[in-house]
Amino acid sequence: MSNPYISGTGYYLPPRVVTNEELSNFMDTSNEWILERTGIEERRYVESGVGPSDLAIPATEQALLAAGLTVKDIDFIIFATSTPDYYAPGSGCLLQEKMGFGEIGALDVRVQCSGFVYGLSIAEQYIRTGMFKHILLIGAEVQSTAMDLTTEGRDTAVIFGDGAGAAIISATEEDRGILSTHLHTDGRYVKELWLEAPASKAGHPRISKNDLDEGKQYLKMNGREVFRHAVTRFPEVIIEALKKNKIEQKDIGLLIPHQANLRITQMIQKKMGLRDDQVMSNIHKYGNTTAGTIPIALGEAIEEGRISEGDIVVFASFGSGFSWASAVMKW
Ligand code: ACO
Repeated sequence: MSNPYISGTGYYLPPRVVTNEELSNFMDTSNEWILERTGIEERRYVESGVGPSDLAIPATEQALLAAGLTVKDIDFIIFATSTPDYYAPGSGCLLQEKMGFGEIGALDVRVQCSGFVYGLSIAEQYIRTGMFKHILLIGAEVQSTAMDLTTEGRDTAVIFGDGAGAAIISATEEDRGILSTHLHTDGRYVKELWLEAPASKAGHPRISKNDLDEGKQYLKMNGREVFRHAVTRFPEVIIEALKKNKIEQKDIGLLIPHQANLRITQMIQKKMGLRDDQVMSNIHKYGNTTAGTIPIALGEAIEEGRISEGDIVVFASFGSGFSWASAVMKW
């Protein structure tokens, strides 16, 4: 049976930088408040007309180059996003056409902040069974257009940004790659972090003038509930993965948590007794790009030389759903 490993990564952030100062022009907030509560200094926003499938193109080009592959080598696309270009069809289909992939399958995964780790688990299974040799896995989001950029939406709007990361999951006979993946959800908390409209169950039309007036087209978050659950679920699912593979906390080479909020990452680090060099954080530059944070952080960690062959790399996520997940890899 083949082992699934990451043969190449890439990432892309749109060029427009939005600082905390700039946000304070639209809403009653301040650089100090945002920095203290979230660790975020700035984030990136797309220009209008740009979707996640557009952001995914340069990320994919980089990942293919790093893996020494071309579009012809890719057998399958998994596109994790909670903000697809369109309601239908999926962003994976758009990327397939834009980059001239063959008539391969393209599967969108909508598990919000956990989308990339869920995608990794799907890729893992296809590689292990021998069905595919090279899978393109994307995590990409355009969150800026789901933000209420007024004082009313400030608790959520200051956190999120746009960006894309890509990873190629390839088959190897070597003793390396993904060791296990662990997936969870608890739908009791759907409304703690959700985007209500447009909705198929809303009737005709799927979004009304009244919905727009009520701001249902914006992402809504109960920050305190999200925080409370995140700081429990992250360590829980990381420990689950370590136990499964008989790995101790001190043996983690690098933990790449979903970049939800610096305070959440610091809490995980403290609860797990990890050193600074064992935990990746880049949220100060990009904010929370939902399904994009892990592959973007992975790409940066590789560039910074923070991962070496044989290292134990752990990915962990928590987000809307609630959903949470982890993956352990031997690099
Ligand atoms: N700027 C200034 N003031 C603000 C802002 C803002 N952007 N947002 C809220 N406030 C105000 C509130 O209105 C409130 O004012 P009041 O006391 O007059 O009512 C005050 O600040 C405190 O509000 P709280 O909600 O109690 O602030 P809290 O300390 O809980 O911080 C935050 C809010 C940062 C959202 C926090 O709850 C948090 O970190 N939650 C986790 C959310 C998260 O990280 N989500 C990531 C996305 S989900 C994911 O990826 C898992």
